[in-house]
Amino acid sequence: MNKLLSQSELDTFRAKAAASAHPRELIVDLLRAIQDHHGWVPDEGIELAAEILGLSPLQIEEIATFYDKIFRQPVGRKVIHVCDSICCWATGSEEVAGYLRRKLGIDFGETTADGAFTLLPTCCLGACGDAPAMMIGLTLYGRLTPEKIDAALEKEKSRSQESGVGSQGKTS
Ligand code: FES
Repeated sequence: MNKLLSQSELDTFRAKAAASAHPRELIVDLLRAIQDHHGWVPDEGIELAAEILGLSPLQIEEIATFYDKIFRQPVGRKVIHVCDSICCWATGSEEVAGYLRRKLGIDFGETTADGAFTLLPTCCLGACGDAPAMMIGLTLYGRLTPEKIDAALEKEKSRSQESGVGSQGKTS
């Protein structure tokens, strides 16, 4: 058992890497698996991914830092990504962000004292028709109002209490 991946995940990724002509294609899936297991991707996770895929740590790091859904430092049990791209900006994303900051008592880039939520801005979530939108974990919430935000936070808080630490990427 590895603290960053279960033994079966290790075996699966080693087998996939051995069978792949382009192991780089496995980087995101592998980093997501490490993140699901550990809650975020520490330096040891970058090194482990490099070793499994036969790539350099720098090649892994380039991908890890490109995707804003891969976390290279500790985050709360759930990460809230608030869209600030054009459709959401035009329909009230600044009000959504302000409401969340006041409600949670944190700014972007911070985590609540109870470790429940980390707040981050993000570019378009692909839910422009339901703007303004946010994503908590992998669940999209659109046409946001203060009432809908309150309901989403309650729902996500109870979900993460049920599933525990490392539930960031999981949906139900
Ligand atoms: S602009 Fe916000 S979801 Fe597309």
